Amino acid sequence: MAIKTLILAAGKGTRMRSALPKVLHKIGECSLLEHVYKLTQALDSETVHIIYGHGGETLKESLPTLDANWVLQAEQLGTGHAVMQAERYINKEDNILILYGDVPLLAKGSVDKLLSLLSETALSLLTVNLENPTGYGRIVRTDDGKVLRIVEEKDADSSEKEIDEVNTGIMAVKGAELKRWLGQLDSNNAQNEYYLTDIIELAVKEGVEIATCQAGSEDEVLGVNNRAQLAYLERVFQNKAADELMEKGVAFRDPARFDIRGRLESVGQDVEIDINVIIEGNCSIGDRVKIGPNCIIKESVLGSDIEILANSHIDGTRIGNNSNVGPYARLRPGTVLAEGVRIGNFVETKKTTVGNGSKISHLSYIGDCEIGELVNIGAGTITCNYDGVNKFKTIIEDGVFVGSDTQLVAPVTLAKNTTIGAGSTITKNTVAESLTLSRSKQVTISSWKRPIKK
Ligand code: UD1
Ligand code: CA
Repeated sequence: MAIKTLILAAGKGTRMRSALPKVLHKIGECSLLEHVYKLTQALDSETVHIIYGHGGETLKESLPTLDANWVLQAEQLGTGHAVMQAERYINKEDNILILYGDVPLLAKGSVDKLLSLLSETALSLLTVNLENPTGYGRIVRTDDGKVLRIVEEKDADSSEKEIDEVNTGIMAVKGAELKRWLGQLDSNNAQNEYYLTDIIELAVKEGVEIATCQAGSEDEVLGVNNRAQLAYLERVFQNKAADELMEKGVAFRDPARFDIRGRLESVGQDVEIDINVIIEGNCSIGDRVKIGPNCIIKESVLGSDIEILANSHIDGTRIGNNSNVGPYARLRPGTVLAEGVRIGNFVETKKTTVGNGSKISHLSYIGDCEIGELVNIGAGTITCNYDGVNKFKTIIEDGVFVGSDTQLVAPVTLAKNTTIGAGSTITKNTVAESLTLSRSKQVTISSWKRPIKK
């Protein structure tokens, strides 16, 4: 079934108290509007029309990758008025799906059900029964259960307010009928708005029987109006992501303290994730990987049998099997660790490859560097890779041993099996299999006396 989707996103979002348009606030890594857009892509929507108003230019500029037709609603005169702005893009034979830009977690299953009802009727509604329906439009039915109309909270009388079946706002409607009914809307109501929901009564008057289906869950159809609701839906989203990973076999110490802002493209067996771990961007993780507390893993690929110890930040990095990183390590983009590598505490790496079995165990900065196999980098080693304008490379060949507190002034090469004496500043290439050091001679001054307090 070919469908056209309208996403209503022109509301001000005043209650967010934010300079950012409401639908640009995020859940996981995506804005509210992107979540809704992604759903339309899963549905194979032929075209997506986004009705925007408030913060329009910011909105369009922030989401340049959305393949949508942006339709301006200059003044927000209600949901019916919003849909009228897109009327010129609606053809009589179209099936129209109406979504809200601030309802981010709607599931495809619910929308599929809603759309399938268009084979029986010209208008189908997604409804939900709420313990507390306050604020929502109520579904008014006849005694034998036929939908009569939707009454908005502000227009409802006390008995209508008792109705707990509410309008989610999500509906599917045939193009010809929608165009006809839009033409008949007025704004004679408590809010002086053009209510899209008034088309229900117009349809019933024409003898159309309205079909309804229930949303899969309440959370799916919740909208975001304020920060508390945004935070609530963030948790709903994260809990679902953690559940999906647990189904794949991931062990969480506490799934409520895990966040994903991106995608785990693949995850192996017996992966253990401690508390407060954040996965960002696209990552993949092999078998038997343990991630300690408070780690961020971003745009990285981890092999198998790896341990990442507490408080490590891994970004744009590949880590080979049997490696061990942290605690307090910072691996920056372009870091590639081969197998059996050990990176210890307070080590920062950037654009650096490290060969099999090499170790950088403590307190170092290693940038723009190629390290061979079985190299040992002592505590406090710094690659001086930057002269303020240019970056230079340091090459460290297999079997090199760098003593502690050493500066390697790039460009420089440490040839195979060189040993560097502790406390050296290395500015020239070394000779293979040799000891190199640059250290001023130690002197002893026996006649020296400590100053004495007067
Ligand atoms: C609307 C429904 C109500 C339903 C509720 C579900 C109407 C008249 N009422 O009420 O039955 O229970 O949603 O949340 O439809 N928008 C525009 N332009 C406008 C007005 C709104 O684009 O001029 C957009 C908003 O950005 C939002 C959506 O439409 O995404 C709903 O608007 P909102 O003002 O929240 O509608 P409600 O009064 O909550
Ligand atoms: Ca609302």
